[in-house]
Amino acid sequence: MRPGKTIVTIMKNKLTLILLTIWVLPAFAQKDYTKEVEALLSKMTLEEKIGQMTLYTSGWDVTGPTLNENYKADIRAGRCGNIFNAHTAKYNRDLQRIAVEETRLKIPLLFGYDVIHGHKTIYPIPLAEACSWDLELIEKSARLSAREAAASGLHWTFNPMVDIARDPRWGRIAEGTGEDPFLGALMGAAKVRGYQGTDLSDPYTLMACVKHFAAYGAAQAGRDYHTVDMSERELRQTYLPPYKAAIDAGAASVMTSFNEYDGVPATGSKFLMDKVLRQEWGFDGIIVTDYGSVAEMIPHGFAVNGKHAGELAANATVDMDMQSGVFQNNLKQSVEEGKVSMKTIDDAVRRVLLKKFELGLFDDPYRYSNEEREKQEVFSDEMMQHARDAGRKSIVLLKNEPFNGQKLLPLAKTTRNIALIGPLTEAPEDILGSWHASGDASKAVTLLSALQQAVPGAKIFHAQGCSTESDDRSGFEAALNAARQADVVIMAVGENYRQNGEAASRSDIGLPGAQQALLEEIYKLGKPVVVVVMAGRPLTIGWMDENIPAIVNAWHLGTMAGPAITDVLFGDYNPSGKLVITFPRNVGQIPIFYSMKNTGRPFNANDKYTSKYLDVANTPLYPFGYGLSYTSFKYSDLKVSKPVIGFGEKLQVEVTVKNTGDRAGEEVVQLYTRDLVGSVTRPVKELKGFQKINLKPGESEKVTFTLTSDDLRFYTQAMEYKAEPGDFKVFVGGSSADVLEVGFELK
Ligand code: BGC
Repeated sequence: MRPGKTIVTIMKNKLTLILLTIWVLPAFAQKDYTKEVEALLSKMTLEEKIGQMTLYTSGWDVTGPTLNENYKADIRAGRCGNIFNAHTAKYNRDLQRIAVEETRLKIPLLFGYDVIHGHKTIYPIPLAEACSWDLELIEKSARLSAREAAASGLHWTFNPMVDIARDPRWGRIAEGTGEDPFLGALMGAAKVRGYQGTDLSDPYTLMACVKHFAAYGAAQAGRDYHTVDMSERELRQTYLPPYKAAIDAGAASVMTSFNEYDGVPATGSKFLMDKVLRQEWGFDGIIVTDYGSVAEMIPHGFAVNGKHAGELAANATVDMDMQSGVFQNNLKQSVEEGKVSMKTIDDAVRRVLLKKFELGLFDDPYRYSNEEREKQEVFSDEMMQHARDAGRKSIVLLKNEPFNGQKLLPLAKTTRNIALIGPLTEAPEDILGSWHASGDASKAVTLLSALQQAVPGAKIFHAQGCSTESDDRSGFEAALNAARQADVVIMAVGENYRQNGEAASRSDIGLPGAQQALLEEIYKLGKPVVVVVMAGRPLTIGWMDENIPAIVNAWHLGTMAGPAITDVLFGDYNPSGKLVITFPRNVGQIPIFYSMKNTGRPFNANDKYTSKYLDVANTPLYPFGYGLSYTSFKYSDLKVSKPVIGFGEKLQVEVTVKNTGDRAGEEVVQLYTRDLVGSVTRPVKELKGFQKINLKPGESEKVTFTLTSDDLRFYTQAMEYKAEPGDFKVFVGGSSADVLEVGFELK
């Protein structure tokens, strides 16, 4: 319940209660439905209970191999209490009617869907949006997505996806916030706040689902669904913090992951779910499996058959089986045989029913299916404007060198002849990104149409040149002709939306198809070329970096991708995005991330026996935290408030940042630390803070951060989470690779 609401209702009755309510209610407080849940539970048969533990896809969208044709009959029989991949107010209202009018106990259905980066109006892919380093913006995208989706019959989004990913071969890197746990934790929590607000029953919010628990992003060799194996220290230090932060922010559900961890599939892992999630973190919301992952414990080689798999999942405290039908078909027998206790079943059903009460579904099962509201919300002006704003703030300017003595970007609006070339210049579905779910490509504004609007006086010579997939070069000539007539060439190249995302790992992350060849041909004409890279992952673009003067990394930015990009190209918005993922020089460097260890033989060019490659540098093409602006910033006077701090004491870190260019601009000021000696070795840099500031030309600002010993904690050799005394370095700068440094001691 929203505190405000409670206060108003009670005010009519008693003044003392008003004060109590103001004092006691935390930011996120729900009414206690224990009595209602217990009363309902006591009436349920075992089959009905198992029905509440079952989630099936409707016939609408499918994201996996199994489709249950009988889902309507299952709902009617009380054998299925939850549906996903069904949306629109009308469709869901009709399904809900079956549950609340035709079943014995009239328990409403819960409707889930992958509202990942927007519902109908699509915002930038999460990896892109994270490059804004703007928590308010990220929270707002989630809030607006919830508003749009909650009017279309949905209660529950399968997001945020907070899997740390350090291997860009893995296609699902697009869905997360990159490589860093500190940033991932803050962003995961912001999304939960955005989706859920402060009141699950608010018809403008969605219940969040933190996924994929756990460490799904660490798939070996970046191949989706592959094995994950790492030390428990690394799991806790690097991979778990974002899940934990999202749960602490109030996330009401968690999804298991497809991968195994330490030999045990996550969906059957007592360690991950019962020990870490339930006992250590006190999570009492719903645990749902990923798509069919209960049954997948059979090919994993962990379960003998479906019945065994169901027992492993239920006994590891899974509450809901997504799509494998294993609970539905086997759990009754497992209970009868004593393999799963009635208490285990009751606990799971309690958790599911409780969320249905908290969502307000027992008060009004149709409260999220409102066709009038749906019409007003979908593609509202506010959403479209936010999509544009989020888009431009997600763009990372990778390179901007002079061409004929002058920086190529921003382009002058007086440019007369512009060639627009490449397969992504007019690709409405691709710019929506890999998980655009029900996003409507007919509303997507492409780069071609945005360019026509941005520079109506210019002549645009447009040619796709090639596709993102095939090696066919038959379109090259038309593209070269277009380029020959232009004063400047804008090329939009990269990946289509199917080339990243789920089940879309790539072993070569260069430009796919004939795009590299097209780019090289165009380059030979000697024209000024700006490349706009649209992709769901970092691409290996070394040749481009060496030869092309201006590179704009525009990811997949959603419905308003086109205008967001032209805003940057023509200087209506000064780019401020900073990478949240390292760009490798080649695939052989992967995994490469900024917070690596030093090793016992750190790189030394003059010593063969140091840690390096013979054929490529150790450094990335573009480091974490990197991104250019049309202005420049100078960092100076980095100071700490004292050279030594004690445990529990505060250290102020201060730096001066000056805008030394000739336009206003935003800068993400980043703070990293290094623990020089530990009972276990520590990374060379760890992000511990950032601030996004806005400076006018010539303006300076003193930026202050506060660190405490708590910020320096890690899992020690004895697996205690604490800071150790010793010497530290603090680094502050505009990228992980360009920093000032100062030291201090923790005593
Ligand atoms: C994905 C999940 C998603 C689910 C439901 C699975 O294949 O891994 O992220 O939420 O499908 O669509």
